[in-house]
Amino acid sequence: MSAGKERWGTRIGLILAMAGNAVGLGNFLRFPVQAASNGGGAFMIPYFLSLILLGIPLMWIEWSLGRYGGVRGSGSTPGILDAIWKSRIAKYVGALGIFMPFIVMVYYTYVESWSLGFSLLSIIGAFPETGGIEEMTHFLRAYQGAEMHESGMFGNVDTGAFIFPGLAYGFFLFTLGANLWFLYRGLSGGIEKVALYGLPALFLFAIVLMVRVLTLGTPDPAVPENSISTGLGFIWNPDLSALSNPQVWLAAAGQIFFTLSLGMGSIHVYASYLSDKDDVALSGLSTSATNETAEVIMGGTIAIPAAVAFFGVAATTQLAAGGSFNLGFVTMPVIFQQLPMGDLFGALWFFLLFIAGITSSLAMGQVVIRFLTDEFGMTRSRAVAVLGVVVFLCTQPVVLFIEFAYMDELDFWAGTFGLFVFGAIEVILFAWVFGIDRGWSEIMKGADIRLPRIYKFILAWVTPLLMIVILLAWTWLNAPSVLLMEGVPEETRPYIIGARVFMLASLAAFFYLIRRAWRDKEGPRARERERARAA
Ligand code: PHE
Repeated sequence: MSAGKERWGTRIGLILAMAGNAVGLGNFLRFPVQAASNGGGAFMIPYFLSLILLGIPLMWIEWSLGRYGGVRGSGSTPGILDAIWKSRIAKYVGALGIFMPFIVMVYYTYVESWSLGFSLLSIIGAFPETGGIEEMTHFLRAYQGAEMHESGMFGNVDTGAFIFPGLAYGFFLFTLGANLWFLYRGLSGGIEKVALYGLPALFLFAIVLMVRVLTLGTPDPAVPENSISTGLGFIWNPDLSALSNPQVWLAAAGQIFFTLSLGMGSIHVYASYLSDKDDVALSGLSTSATNETAEVIMGGTIAIPAAVAFFGVAATTQLAAGGSFNLGFVTMPVIFQQLPMGDLFGALWFFLLFIAGITSSLAMGQVVIRFLTDEFGMTRSRAVAVLGVVVFLCTQPVVLFIEFAYMDELDFWAGTFGLFVFGAIEVILFAWVFGIDRGWSEIMKGADIRLPRIYKFILAWVTPLLMIVILLAWTWLNAPSVLLMEGVPEETRPYIIGARVFMLASLAAFFYLIRRAWRDKEGPRARERERARAA
């Protein structure tokens, strides 16, 4: 059976799979870091405005575009954009919607494998027991192969040019293998099953961790200002002063995109297995609501207040600024080590991250699979094999050049900047090319709720204009310094350039594949086949 004929097994399975797609490392690692480094309460107002004015409208757009394409036999964005926009470049613009999930999958799966590794390291009590942040940072860097570790426990091999991280590599192979296995099992047999068991477990673990964190009180009575209530206040006391700071807006909107998997082509693929009778309005809304619960309530309650209670607001902000993963991989183990049964809580935390991660990386992989099966008529097992080999090869530099910002470069272009670009293109095409009247009735087709009509206006005007403003501001403020590698140490530059060459080459490869697929579909041979069939 070609993957295009696949269907979700049950409605609850679909909702959980979509929630699994959205709920990911973004909720538990990226959100706390973004919120803390952008002023806590100051971040939350633009964040919620972005959710209402950009996130939810785009979620509806992507669900209905996905269904629209799927009903017509193309579930990934090259085919979808080709169907709604009568232009020869539409399918090439749609290439972005496979390119980005592919690039993100290349580094995301690796980070996901760290969380599995750390979960087991925690259970066997391998974390340093004293020594605090500094020692834990060293532990993480040694695991990643950015440094050697005196104990030799990570099986690292120093080759002179780079350190080969033995243990991390093993966990990576296992994690990639698990992803491929579930993808091979298919939509309802693999992805949906993982979500059906994984998401309830994830929520349960998150509740246990929340309760543990909320009962921390004031860990050090000698420093009463460092407490859980200070931590909660840090996020929840609204601070209007930052509303005029464009950087905070950009960070907030960027987080909304990343966490809801928007501007990626990935929501489309999951929605492409629906029929016109299926609802997208209520389902899109519930995906957003589930993700935001996991993000704001759970992701926000666990990492930030705990860090503030132990280290104070100033240190937490500083730690967050030190890198996207520090809060999750460094402060959390340090905190848990000071609690009774800390190894167990640590294992729970990292296993939660692993579940969150795998249900998202499956969504990235499925994008590529849907493209290969739809447009090249590949079987699913063939497509999984191709994906596996290519992702495996492309992850090698991510693993080996971890300390040279190779991964950060991929994350900036494919995981941040690209989302704005593609999101803006989508909204404009939907509202102004496809047309808002058609678009609105597409969203309302089969809908289980009536959406407030004000949203038709928001979709037509507010979302597109806001997207354009944000895109321009983002480009203006961030792109030049990134493009010119400002402040990047000399020895890191070749790796950054390498990352860019790799991304350009991947994009070119997707363009080429699209060209070939369409030539087969529309070219003389296809017409001949049509004629033969008609005769
Ligand atoms: N939304 C996921 C997260 O929060 C990331 C993701 C991006 C998932 C793109 C699928 C596609 O981690």
